[in-house]
Amino acid sequence: MNQVPNHPTAFESCSAILNQIGQYHLLQWWTELSTEEQRELLADINSVQWNLLQDILETVVARRSSANPTASALDNLQPAKVFPQKPTTELIGLYDEAIEAGRSLLRSGKVAAFTVAGGQGTRLGFDGPKGMVPVTPVGSKSLFEIFATTVLAARRKFGANIPWYIMTSPANHEQTVNFLRTNRWFGLPEQDVILFSQGMLPAFDFQGRALLAAKHRLALAPDGHGGSLDALIRSGALADCQRRGITLLSYFQVDNPLVKPFDPLFIGLHSITGSEMSTKVCAKADDLERVGNVCLQNGKVTVIEYSEFPEKLARQRDLSSRRTFDAGNLAIHLLDIAFIDRVISKQHKLPFRRAEKIVPHIDEQGRLHQPAKPNAVKLEKFIFDVLPFATNPLVLEVDRAEEFSPVKNATGVDSLETSKRDQNLRACRWLESVGVRIPRHPDGTPNTTVTISPLFALDPEEIRSHVQQIPAIQPGQHLHLE
Ligand code: UTP
Repeated sequence: MNQVPNHPTAFESCSAILNQIGQYHLLQWWTELSTEEQRELLADINSVQWNLLQDILETVVARRSSANPTASALDNLQPAKVFPQKPTTELIGLYDEAIEAGRSLLRSGKVAAFTVAGGQGTRLGFDGPKGMVPVTPVGSKSLFEIFATTVLAARRKFGANIPWYIMTSPANHEQTVNFLRTNRWFGLPEQDVILFSQGMLPAFDFQGRALLAAKHRLALAPDGHGGSLDALIRSGALADCQRRGITLLSYFQVDNPLVKPFDPLFIGLHSITGSEMSTKVCAKADDLERVGNVCLQNGKVTVIEYSEFPEKLARQRDLSSRRTFDAGNLAIHLLDIAFIDRVISKQHKLPFRRAEKIVPHIDEQGRLHQPAKPNAVKLEKFIFDVLPFATNPLVLEVDRAEEFSPVKNATGVDSLETSKRDQNLRACRWLESVGVRIPRHPDGTPNTTVTISPLFALDPEEIRSHVQQIPAIQPGQHLHLE
């Protein structure tokens, strides 16, 4: 094999490591590569902490049958204790107090927004970061614009410099930054929009051999939304929060335009009950809905993925015929900064989960192979795996129609089409709740399309104050309130 001029040591140490861990095939095409390509390959290989992956390769990757770390631990599952969406008589006082406490935390600038946007969005297939997808029913505003203007509106409402942290991946970081910069951060001060990248890991074949995306590039994939906790620490974003006096992160995914990151009730309940991590859930749409199940296990709140949840439990009913396990994970969480610092910096590393995916790769003949079915294992950490470590975790039920309609798939369930429909339905409901007449089709669906910008109103209450500005809505009209 040729040695690379100027960096023989880097090559030698790299090949020694790969030899030791059985990944030497990554250098198979070395002699065919240009100097620049050789440099890129070395950089890819050196970006991986191979020594930390050895055990995982033997357990998670190579042992195909054993899926995820929780799979062997499905005993003693009970339904999680859930705070109801509407308070019972005994809870009314607590909810009122919580709303006040939440507002006060927001006013005092203790809460930051945190979007995880490092995913590859393969199911949607949009060419670019998912946050750039135009999603609103009118005005084609992007997911990033919705979140940015939500932060801006909350800053105005609560009179606080609320920062917005965004986790990208090395694969979409530059495009994300460029998009936000080109749009002048959608009115937010640049220093209060903090972007950082998550880690990447190689994809492996089922024998545990790392795959090449090109002869000179590793097939790398982001390390899951749970990688956000490591990334917060590594990037200095957590320290930045501490410097700013932020105590709480409002975590949400980039794909859900209905999210309410500044919900005083949720924030207040989290604070009053001394929760270190809280999560919103909604009633499942059906027994086998593809959402995580928020459960209680040996006194700890834990999320069991739908794919691992025993069907018998999924279908179980209680004495009043209600679904026993009915708390669907919405991936909307509150995390104390001190909790992340305590658990992730000092105590635990989240486990890797195994995901079988289609990963195009260079085959043994050096050709780019595009598999038709999953051929590779990606390793991902999941944010909810940190829940069992939280003291007093709180679970709050919310109305799905108000807070959750993600854009995941190109068509069908959880697609752009269903999300636009749900955004429109919510906007129409909000308007009707303050007395605006919505034209409807004979089947009851709105005969109008409405987008309400967060800058116009963050909730129905805010519409009330400028309801006079809203024109009478004509059948078939497209209305953008901004
Ligand atoms: P999904 O699990 O829906 O994955 O991510 P995805 O990568 O966006 O889409 P598919 O599965 O390839 O179609 C849920 C949320 O977690 C973020 C995503 O950006 C999305 O907000 N995420 C996911 C990360 O930030 N990093 C990851 O490594 C994975």
